[in-house]
Amino acid sequence: MSAIIVVGAQWGDEGKGRVVDGLAREAQLVARFNGGDNAGHTVVAEGHTLKLHLVPSGILYQTATCLIGAGVVVNPEQLTAEMDELAAIGVDVGPAHLKLSAAAHIILPTHRALDGAREEARGQTALGTTKRGIGPVYADKAARVNPRAGDMINPEQFAEQVADRVRAHNRRLKEQYGLETLSPQQAAARYCEYARRLAPHLVDGSALVGETLAAGRTVLCEGAQGMLLDLDHGTYPYVTSSSVTSGGALTGLGFGPQHVSRVVGVVKAYTTRVGTGPFLTELLDETGEQIREAGNEYGTTTGRPRRCGWLDLVILRYAARINGLDELALTKLDVLSGLERLKVAVAYERDGERVQPSVAKYFPAEFGVEALAEWKPVYEELPGWAEDITGVRARADLPAAAQEYVARIEELVDAPVTFIGVGPEREQAIRMTNDQ
Ligand code: GDP
Ligand code: IMO
Ligand code: MG
Repeated sequence: MSAIIVVGAQWGDEGKGRVVDGLAREAQLVARFNGGDNAGHTVVAEGHTLKLHLVPSGILYQTATCLIGAGVVVNPEQLTAEMDELAAIGVDVGPAHLKLSAAAHIILPTHRALDGAREEARGQTALGTTKRGIGPVYADKAARVNPRAGDMINPEQFAEQVADRVRAHNRRLKEQYGLETLSPQQAAARYCEYARRLAPHLVDGSALVGETLAAGRTVLCEGAQGMLLDLDHGTYPYVTSSSVTSGGALTGLGFGPQHVSRVVGVVKAYTTRVGTGPFLTELLDETGEQIREAGNEYGTTTGRPRRCGWLDLVILRYAARINGLDELALTKLDVLSGLERLKVAVAYERDGERVQPSVAKYFPAEFGVEALAEWKPVYEELPGWAEDITGVRARADLPAAAQEYVARIEELVDAPVTFIGVGPEREQAIRMTNDQ
């Protein structure tokens, strides 16, 4: 009947995994639409803590089929390892439950090597990528030279394609970066095995989405990364290489906009960023440290400490505009408990000039990160709360200051908060009904 799109509204790690898990009960198909194993989505439910990189976050529900869509780039080594881990704890990852779009692109070991080499060569200006080969594989996709998942139908032919690409990458590794090369034969042999294993999971992904919608069922579209990492609208070049926004769900899965019933923006109650690039509300002091420890802000994929800062409502308004957010899922509100005063950025200022909340939903990134760095955040202070809120299940039972914090976000972003995370577990949430 409809598509629900879940996107990150900041720089990733907002808690998309747990929000998708929370909504998956209503869905018949849960589909990842962008990114690769640079993503790390955590689901804490049914006694498990799942760290998912490629498998959609609806996998715990037997009632929903899971699809890795065309817009995703797939490292088969990671995917098969993840499937093994899930199978070991009794989760069904068989071909009837977990499907892979034939149009998804395949990450090769040399994509990863090139990602690392390029980062190394950039030195001080490194982007801080996850080194999962994301930039190089999307570049090969755009150059129309990369093998796709559908090629795995014929494992021997696929292995030859892999060997050819590895040879081409090897030339670059050697000539451009003076690095060791990888054996094309070994890569081909390994990828031939992956192909044999993954071939039964292959489907025409857009057809599956289309059939599900036509049958009056719900497709839950799971985004990876966050709005400000979007290739077109993020803080370029400190971005990832895919379409992170709600528009990316349409292209990444292959369906039309008339099917979209809800766009949910996942927002962390403060801001974090992994990797380099501008971050106007970053806290380089004790408060930042306190938030990092309380929120356990260490990367799910790379283990890197995440940079932490105050909530930036300028960003959220921008995310609301670009994604057409209908509602916000606010996570990790519990992490702010115990901070005496809270700050939120409500505007940016530069030489007496102001980006006002009332003036469009503007975020000064189109002219580049140097231009963005000229702006300073304008803060509003709000009272904190001391209470532990992890047991709260109704918005009205939150401390008054926490209610005020949520209301101020709704007011300035102009979108309702329909979900509040008060702990990492599935049950540790406040779910709002429409009449609340
Ligand atoms: P994703 O990439 O957007 O799916 O987010 P990650 O899984 O990388 O990071 C979010 C982290 O916060 C995970 O460790 C989650 O278990 C945790 N988390 C999610 N929601 C909440 C919440 O409401 N409160 C707390 N304390 N932790 C949460
Ligand atoms: P999830 O889905 C946070 C960041 C990297 C780096 C930049 C480019 O868990 O929210 P890439 O490897 O994509 O070329 O790196 O993007 N990045 C993420 N940061 N969460 C993610 O995914 C991220 N995926 C990529 O840290 O700054
Ligand atoms: Mg993550």
